[in-house]
Amino acid sequence: MTFTPKFPTFLHGGDYNPDQWLDRPDILDRDVEMMHKAHVNTVSIGIFSWARLEPEDGVYDFSWLDEVIDRLWKGGIHVILATPSGARPAWMAQKYPEVLRVNDHYQRYHFGGRHNHCITSPVYRRKVYEMDKRLAERYANHPAVILWHLSNEMSGHCYCDLCQEAFRGWLKDKYGTLDKLNDAWWTSFWAHRYTDWSQVEAPGPMAETSTNGMYIDWRRFATHQCKTFMMAERDAVQSVNPELKVTANLMERFWDYDYFDLAEGMDVVSWDSYPMWHSGDDMARAAEFAMNHDMMRSFKDQPFLLMESTPSQVNWKPVNKLKRPGMHLLSSMQALAHGSQSVLYFQWRKGRGAAEQFHGAVVDHDGRDDTRVFKDVTQVGKALESLQPIYDREKSPAQACIIYDWSNWWAIDYAQTGQSQNMKYFDSVNMHYRSLWELGVNVDFRDERECTDLSQYKLVICPMLFMLKESFADKLRVFVENGGTLLMTYFSGVVDESGLAWLGGAPHNLIDVLGVRATELDALFPEDKQAMLLADGRSFPIHELCEIPELHGAKSLGLYEEDFYAAMPCLTRNTFGKGQAYYLAAKVEQAGLDAIYADIADELDLPRAMQETLPEGVIATERGGAVFLQNYSGKAQQVAFENKYTDMLTGRQVEGEYIMPANGVMVLVR
Ligand code: GAL
Repeated sequence: MTFTPKFPTFLHGGDYNPDQWLDRPDILDRDVEMMHKAHVNTVSIGIFSWARLEPEDGVYDFSWLDEVIDRLWKGGIHVILATPSGARPAWMAQKYPEVLRVNDHYQRYHFGGRHNHCITSPVYRRKVYEMDKRLAERYANHPAVILWHLSNEMSGHCYCDLCQEAFRGWLKDKYGTLDKLNDAWWTSFWAHRYTDWSQVEAPGPMAETSTNGMYIDWRRFATHQCKTFMMAERDAVQSVNPELKVTANLMERFWDYDYFDLAEGMDVVSWDSYPMWHSGDDMARAAEFAMNHDMMRSFKDQPFLLMESTPSQVNWKPVNKLKRPGMHLLSSMQALAHGSQSVLYFQWRKGRGAAEQFHGAVVDHDGRDDTRVFKDVTQVGKALESLQPIYDREKSPAQACIIYDWSNWWAIDYAQTGQSQNMKYFDSVNMHYRSLWELGVNVDFRDERECTDLSQYKLVICPMLFMLKESFADKLRVFVENGGTLLMTYFSGVVDESGLAWLGGAPHNLIDVLGVRATELDALFPEDKQAMLLADGRSFPIHELCEIPELHGAKSLGLYEEDFYAAMPCLTRNTFGKGQAYYLAAKVEQAGLDAIYADIADELDLPRAMQETLPEGVIATERGGAVFLQNYSGKAQQVAFENKYTDMLTGRQVEGEYIMPANGVMVLVR
C-alpha cells in the first residue's frame, strides 16, 4: 500500500519553514543542496504560513510559495503541503474575535500562540475553507506535492457561546428528548435534572463537575467537532484533486479526542513521536513507543507515517538529553518496524528566534553539514534507501489484539471511584502490550466500535475495560464461544456507555464466560505488600489495585498471598464454548504479566518475529518478513543466531555468535 503514488518511497525529511528565511535566498538554495547530502527526499511546508499567504483579509500572496515549491521540485525534493489552520494571522483575530478560543473560565484568549482557534466558529471555518481551496487550486496537481498535511496537532476545547450551542445541538441529535439525557446522566443526583435544553452547558470548573456521563459526552462532542472541522478541510482540498490524500498529525497518549473516530476522517494516519530516551530505562520507553506506533497503525489498520521526530533533542521537556550514538537510527527503525512509511523530523533548520530557536534540527545555527546530528540523519536517509525492497510490505496479520477504547479511558478518568491515583489506564495497558512486544508477537489495537471484528484473532486482551457496551460484551462472548482466548482484568464491565453502573454484577454479561464475578476493589499504598502465587510456586508482586473475585466455575491459577484475601484467587481460567477466558484480578508486576503471556503465547502458538532466544533488552519486531532487531539495553549484547541472515542495513551476513553494540539495530532477512 502506498499513500504517495507519485513518490512510492520511504519518505525522509520533515518540517521546513522557508517562510522564515525569505530574505535569505542564499540559505534557501543551500537548503536544497544540503537536503541532497542528507538523503532527504521530502519536506512538509506551509504549516504555519498563514500570515505570509494572506497578509490582509482576502488578499492572497502565493508568489513566495510558488518559488519555494519550484525550487524544491527542481532540486528533486517532494512536498507535503500543509493547510495553515493551526495558527492564524493577527489581523484575523483582531477583525473576527470569534475565531479565538474561550477557556473553561469563559475568558476569550487574545491573539498569540497556536492551536487555539474555536473549532466551531463559522467565520474560522469559512476562512480556512477559502484558504484551503486556493492552495488546492494552485498546488494540488503540482508534481512535487505528494500529500496534504491538514492543520497541525489538533487539540483542545472551546467554551464560547457558539460551541455551547453546538454542544446542545449534538446532544439533541444524540438523545432526542431531555428525559433520555437526564436518565443517561443520572441527573436526579444533586437536583441536576434539566427541564429545558437551554439549561445545558458544557461541563468545567465554573459549571458542572459532578456528572461524569456529561463529561464523557463533552469529549465525544469535541471529537465530533474536530472531525467535522478536519473533514471540511479535507473536502476543500480534495474538491480539486480527489486523488491527493490527506493526513493530520496525531500525538502520543493523546486524551482529548477519540483517535479511532478521528482517524476515520483522514486517508492516512501520521503522528509526532518524541520519546525521552536515556532517562533511566530505555526498554520501558521503547515499549511505550512501540505501543504508540502500533496504535497509529491500528487506527486505520494500515501503515502510517512518522510525521515528526527530533533529529537530536527537543527543547520542551524538563531535561532534554541528546540522543546517544546509535539511538537516532535505532528509534527511526523502530517506527519502520511497526509499519511507518517515513522518518520525518521537526525540523530541518533551526530558526533564529521565538519558541523553537533551540529545538533540535538537522541544520543548526552554524549552518554546517558535518555535525554529528547531520551525519546521524544522513545515515537514516541511507538506511531508508536500502530498505526500499520492503517499502510496501506490511506487518504480518496480528493474531493478538488489545482493546483500547477512548470512551473507556475518559470514563475511568472521570469516574470518582476513590482509586483514581492508581488507575493509570495507558500505562496499565502498556504493561500487557510490553509482554507480547518482548516476545516478538505482533499486536493490533481495537476499540468497542461496531465495526470491530475479532474473528481474525486468537487472543483478545481487555485490560481495565471499565466501560463495556452491551454489544461488545456480546462480541466477546461469541469470540470465546467460537474458540478464542480472552484475557480480561480487574475493573472491567462495570459501567455502560453512558457511564452508568451495570446492575447485576461485573463483568457485565460475561460472568458465565469468565466463570468469575468481581466483588470488591482494594487499593494499595506503595508500601503495602501483596503478591500473586502461581501453582508452580513462582510469586510476583502486586501493586496499586486488587479485586476480589468470586469463582463461578473458573479454575484458579494464582492466589493472593497477603492480607484478609490471602489464598483467594487472583488469576483464573474458565472454559466456555470452544474457547477459554482468563481473569486477572490485580495489577501484577511486569514479570508476572510476562509469565502469564509466555504461557498463553506458547499454548496458542502465536507467531514470533524470531525463534532465537534473545538477551534482555534486545527486541525483535517483524514487518513483511524482515526482522528488526533492536538493542535497547544500553549496553553491548551477545546474540546467538541459529540461522543465517543478511542485514539489509549493511548488506553483511550474520550467523552464530554476534555482538550487538548498545543502541544497535539490524534489519534481518533470511
Ligand atoms: C510538535 C509540533 C511542531 C513542533 C514540535 C516541537 O508538537 O507539531 O510544530 O512544535 O512539536 O517538538
